[in-house]
Amino acid sequence: MNDNNQEKLLRPRPVHESISEMAEIVLPNDANPLNALLGGRLMHWIDLAGALAAHRHSRQWVVTASIDHMDFLVPVHVGDLVILRSSVNRAFHTSMEVGVKAWVENYRVEHSQHVSSAYLTFVAVDAAAHHLPVPQVIPETEDEKRRYEDALRRREIRRTESARRKQVPT
Ligand SMILES: CC(C)(COP(=O)(O)OP(=O)(O)OC[C@H]1O[C@@H](n2cnc3c(N)ncnc32)[C@H](O)[C@@H]1OP(=O)(O)O)[C@@H](O)C(=O)NCCC(=O)NCCS
Repeated sequence: MNDNNQEKLLRPRPVHESISEMAEIVLPNDANPLNALLGGRLMHWIDLAGALAAHRHSRQWVVTASIDHMDFLVPVHVGDLVILRSSVNRAFHTSMEVGVKAWVENYRVEHSQHVSSAYLTFVAVDAAAHHLPVPQVIPETEDEKRRYEDALRRREIRRTESARRKQVPT
């Protein structure tokens, strides 16, 4: 890749360029015998919604390096609509922290509830799985600036925990 292309690819990007939205209708194959959405299926959708934002920001292929803690706040049922919104909070060298928030909507009973949120870290890679540098993020709104600052603190916590796990004998 020539220097011009590389420079263009690494131009810092505002958060709004990575904002993504995904919608899924919960079907019987997504659910347990009680017709409730499987947690693992929601995690899969959260991973995809996060990858969408990371891909849009970096313009590269990305792999999931980690998913932080997740809670499932309300049950979701067959026939419900799940809306997933994602955006890149902050980029580092080759990695990006993405926030994903999932909502359940049911138009028959007119309700919309927050189901789960997660922070994921994606690493940009080429076809040979070499890590690639990613553009920096430009936070613009107050919320984006708060998430940008918090992302650095969360990265430090992740690194500390990861180092501690490596010290535990297996
Ligand atoms: C994630 C992966 C690319 C990290 O590669 P690595 O060589 O172990 O990591 P490095 O120490 O070189 O770090 C590369 C970047 O990843 C980040 N990273 C590595 N492990 C991480 C973790 N557990 N959580 C968050 N970020 C992590 C580092 O902070 C670094 O970011 P930076 O370049 O922005 O500073 C590698 O472990 C991998 O390919 N894992 C499998 C990914 C995959 O297949 N995911 C799908 C699910 S199976």
